[in-house]
Amino acid sequence: KNINLYKFKELDSTNGYLERNHKNYEEFDVICTKNQTHGRARRQNDWVSMEGMAIFSFFLEKRENWEIEDYLKLPLIAGLATIRGLRGIENLDYKFKWTNDVYLENKKLCGILIEKIDDVYIVGIGINVNNILPEKLKNKAISLTQLTNKKYEIEKIIKNIISEFQMLCEKLENGLWEDILKEINEMNYLKNKKIELKFGNEKVLGIAQDINENGEIEVLVKKDEVGKGEIKSFSIGE
Ligand code: BTN
Repeated sequence: KNINLYKFKELDSTNGYLERNHKNYEEFDVICTKNQTHGRARRQNDWVSMEGMAIFSFFLEKRENWEIEDYLKLPLIAGLATIRGLRGIENLDYKFKWTNDVYLENKKLCGILIEKIDDVYIVGIGINVNNILPEKLKNKAISLTQLTNKKYEIEKIIKNIISEFQMLCEKLENGLWEDILKEINEMNYLKNKKIELKFGNEKVLGIAQDINENGEIEVLVKKDEVGKGEIKSFSIGE
């Protein structure tokens, strides 16, 4: 299906815009903008936006034949679609960082925010493409151009990602979640890393394993000093 891009010079947030206006658009129409004044990130954080980034959102309608669990897979599907889309432009060693970031060279390349409004799921993606990150973010984040010294066609990247996303949704509907999950696990950034998961005041320390069929991360948690440890799975967490 043809992908329609609606381009803006500046918006508060492409997710916010779709939240207010999705009724005037169709599923998979893409809202993109050069810059955002109030970019949103997960957990009520701000997303620092700047020109040269790919900044866009689209939405998915509720599907009759999907279970709640299927929607919980959207962050993973969006992450994989982003990686596939980027690979089509520049083949680098992208990693998927559970629950929904893309990493490159151990730094954050892309953030994804999914919000449910009325009966639609808004998927917002921000990718550092042609922008140079400010000094204070340089040890945490990276852009494509900072690694390769090239400039990229942002619209092409966006279209690639949307078409990969559509293909992955079809794949999911056709019962091929296992294949999708396998591909995601091959790029699992956290695998074998020592991680600390926080839930409010609670903390869990352990070693990350694979992402399981429910989209949860499995963590080898140490029971006590002598204990061998056990595998626990987590669906959310910071
Ligand atoms: C995160 O890393 O926590 C998610 C960041 C998501 C940023 C994108 S940019 C396009 C879309 N519009 C927003 O306001 N946020 C998302």
